[in-house]
Amino acid sequence: MNLHSEDIIFLGQDYARELAALEEQCFAFPWSEKEFRLALSRKNFLVLGLIRSRELMGYLSFYHVQDQVEILNLAVHPQARGRGSAGRLLSFLMDYCSREKVSLVFLEVRPSNRSAVSLYQRFGFQRAGRRPGYYPDTGEDALVYQLELVRKET
Ligand SMILES: CC(C)(COP(=O)(O)OP(=O)(O)OC[C@H]1O[C@@H](n2cnc3c(N)ncnc32)[C@H](O)[C@@H]1OP(=O)(O)O)[C@@H](O)C(=O)NCCC(=O)NCCS
Repeated sequence: MNLHSEDIIFLGQDYARELAALEEQCFAFPWSEKEFRLALSRKNFLVLGLIRSRELMGYLSFYHVQDQVEILNLAVHPQARGRGSAGRLLSFLMDYCSREKVSLVFLEVRPSNRSAVSLYQRFGFQRAGRRPGYYPDTGEDALVYQLELVRKET
């Protein structure tokens, strides 16, 4: 990879430490390196990493079970936000879903997270429900968003 290039790749357990470090910059209750290592040992848990100048600048983690994908987390380094990185990670996921014939993608998001809600809406996600008091730190509800994808039969 060119020193200043940007790439999106699937991350393995060798990225657990960097994922935990990025997570600490982005969330009040970050996953630890150990938690990432354990999760990445499971075949249905996948993580896309945005690598810029050899550094992990963002990631998107998801479960893929049969024809459904659940987005668990999406995070971009605070200094790299507002430049479309999250959008590129989501576009990569959409291409993956198309290749893998995924028919439903869903996620939970805080209503106060305007940038994330706006991003998901731009990709066509629609409100599918609300989970009252879902987030233990603030007691905030979670909004459930989902995107139904049309499966092309080959
Ligand atoms: C949410 C997050 C991943 C977005 O990353 P990003 O790389 O800055 O996102 P992008 O540059 O691709 O922009 C995404 C959208 O947010 C909008 N946006 C950016 N900052 C915003 C703000 N402060 N308020 C409202 N919208 C904002 C952008 O205009 C863009 O909207 P569009 O898709 O309608 O054009 C990032 O802010 C983050 O890591 N937050 C902390 C972790 C988190 O909350 N993750 C979401 C869990 S569901």
